[in-house]
Amino acid sequence: MEYKNLLFERKNHVGILTINRPDKLNALNNQTLDELQDCLLNVQNDENIFVLIITGAGEKAFVAGADISELAELDLETAKIFSEKGQSIFNLIEKLGKPVIAAVNGFALGGGCELALACHIRFASEKAKFGQPEVNLGIIPGYGGTQRLTRLINPGRSAELILTGDLIDADDALKMGLVSKIFIHDELLNKTILLAEKIASKGQKAVGYALKCILSCDELTKSEGIKLEADIFAKCCNTDDFNEGTNAFLEKRKPNFKNT
Ligand code: COA
Repeated sequence: MEYKNLLFERKNHVGILTINRPDKLNALNNQTLDELQDCLLNVQNDENIFVLIITGAGEKAFVAGADISELAELDLETAKIFSEKGQSIFNLIEKLGKPVIAAVNGFALGGGCELALACHIRFASEKAKFGQPEVNLGIIPGYGGTQRLTRLINPGRSAELILTGDLIDADDALKMGLVSKIFIHDELLNKTILLAEKIASKGQKAVGYALKCILSCDELTKSEGIKLEADIFAKCCNTDDFNEGTNAFLEKRKPNFKNT
């Protein structure tokens, strides 16, 4: 598929996906969502990409939300399809099977905040602004925001953001645990690539398994999750990477993981 609204590049084992509609602050229209889905499926199937970064083009926005000109046309029937389509693409990000990092370089509003929430790690520029302003349009977040924001921060803070539609800056997002680090604007992408490369240098079997356990928290009880952890820990100890990692430590050298 040829992309009109996305850029994709790779640096070694790191993929960088840029939502590229800067004149509309990277708002997610239908075409962009289709391209996003196509790109995510390619990344999922590409054994040479270990970590994916998602960011926005231009100086102002990560993603300023779903495209309001398309939103305005929805009715009872089409709105459900619209919501479920975005949800399924964001679920694909969460369940990609490899780490996805949001580099939030500006406005992350509505569907843009939800896009960042679907990623596993969020780094932000000092200029980033977050919010779920849907209530200003007479709607609610429809791409998973009511669920992911509430689970990530806490119900009171999530309710305050969703019910007021207020925007918060990067410092407040950091205090709430919505992002894990803030960087000077021009350093954001390089710092995010450094993080991605660090993760990509580890044994990818263990990275994938760890992610699976972390994500299971949403669906399993604590005792089920603890049991899953033991099962997956055992699987790790049956990999070549485990032999390589432990031998390398004992031989005082760097591991050379084969990701098997
Ligand atoms: N959907 C469609 N177009 C959008 C958009 C969105 N979510 N967000 C921004 N745009 C467009 C604007 O319409 C404008 O297009 P135009 O130049 O053709 O008129 C362009 O992007 C630039 O936006 P503008 O509003 O002029 O920039 P600003 O710096 O004055 O304000 C925002 C920035 C983010 C505060 C403002 O654009 C905004 O409130 N956007 C909507 C955010 C939102 O409600 N998102 C949730 C949707 S569910």
